[in-house]
Amino acid sequence: MSAYGTEPGAPTNDGNPGETSELPQPEDLGFGRYLGAHLVLAEHDGARWSAPGLLPRQALCVPVASAGVQYGLSVFEGLKAYRGADGGVHLFRPQAHAHRFAASAARLGLPAVDEALFVESCAMAVDAHRKLLPPYGRGSLYLRPTIHADEEFLGLRRAQRHRYSVVVSACSDPAMKRLRLWAEPHLIRAAVGGLGAAKTGANYAAGLAGLMHAQAKAYDDVVWLDAATHTRLGEAGSMNLFVRIGSRLLTPPLDGCILAGITRDSLLQMARRARLDAVECEISLDDLAIAQQRGELGGAFGCGTAARIVAIDEIGDSTRCIRFSAQDACVSRLCAALKDVQEGGTSDWPQWRYGL
Ligand code: PLP
Ligand code: COI
Repeated sequence: MSAYGTEPGAPTNDGNPGETSELPQPEDLGFGRYLGAHLVLAEHDGARWSAPGLLPRQALCVPVASAGVQYGLSVFEGLKAYRGADGGVHLFRPQAHAHRFAASAARLGLPAVDEALFVESCAMAVDAHRKLLPPYGRGSLYLRPTIHADEEFLGLRRAQRHRYSVVVSACSDPAMKRLRLWAEPHLIRAAVGGLGAAKTGANYAAGLAGLMHAQAKAYDDVVWLDAATHTRLGEAGSMNLFVRIGSRLLTPPLDGCILAGITRDSLLQMARRARLDAVECEISLDDLAIAQQRGELGGAFGCGTAARIVAIDEIGDSTRCIRFSAQDACVSRLCAALKDVQEGGTSDWPQWRYGL
C-alpha cells in the first residue's frame, strides 16, 4: 500500500479524461492516475522562457537523446489546487513551491522559472481543468510543474534548450491509514553535498530499490537513514517525518539530505502558533527505542503534498521494532487542522491560499 492510494499495478488513463462524467467518484480517483487532457508549456532557448501556452498533453514529445532522459537533467514540483468551502478555487502555497523549484533548478544547472511564471502557469493549468477539480473536502487537483533539458545532444554539458511544463491530475483526498516503515540498513539515498534537498528524479530513482526491499519485507515504505552513521532518521520515500516524544514534536533538521517539505514547514508553523513544543533536531533510532522503553513515545507521522499526514505504526529493521502510539490526539488534531487550512475550511493562514 502506498501512502496516498496509488496501488501497485493500478491502471492509468493514458487517454484523455476529457469530461468529468468519465471520472470515477472523487474517493476512487487515488493519486496520479487521472491526468488532465492538456498541459502548459514554455520553452527556453538558452536566453529566456517563452510565454506559457496550452497544448494537448500527448502532443509533447521528449527526445530520448536528450540530457533530460539520459542524465536526469530535470526537476519537478508537486502542489495542489483545492475547491474552497465558499466554492472558489485556490492553490496552496504556490510561492513556496516556486522558491523550492528555483533552488532545485539551480542545483542541477537548469534555467530557473521565476515566481511570476510559475504561478501564472499553474493558474493556467488549473483554469484549463476546472471541471476535474473534486468538490470541497473530497479531493484536489495535483499539479506537477517540471523543467527538463530538451536539446538532442549526447555530450555532457549544460543543455541549450529546456522545456517547462505543468501537468495536472485529479486526486482523492488522501485516506487515513497507518504505515509500517522499514529503516533501510545498507543503501543510502543522499549524502551531505549531494542531491537530497533537490526535487529531482535522481532521488526517487536512487530510492526505488529501498522501497522494493521494504515491500519485500511486507513494510509499506522505507525510512532513509543518514549516510555517515546509518543511525539518524532522514525522511521516507516521499514524505518528511515527525515523531512525538514526551511533550515535544520532533522532525529531522534540513541538513541538505532531505527535501524541505512545504507541508513540514506549514505544520511547524501551525504547531508553534498552537504553542506546541515543535523542534527540528536529529532523531536516532536509539532515541526512539529509549523513549519507547520509558513509555514516552507518542505518535509519529509522515507528511507531504500527496499524502498530507499519514500515521506511522512502526519503524523496524532487522534487530528491532519501534512502535508508536496509535492514539495521539495531537497528531489527529494537526491532521484535521492542516486539511482545513489547505482546503479553506478555516479563515486561518489566508496568506497560504492563493485564490484563482
Ligand atoms: N520528501 C520527499 C522525498 C518528497 O518527495 C516529498 C513530497 O513532495 C516530501 C518530502 C514532502 O514535501 P512537500 O510537503 O513539499 O510535498
Ligand atoms: C508530492 O507529495 O508532491 C510528491 O512529489 C510525491 C511523489 C513523489 C509521488
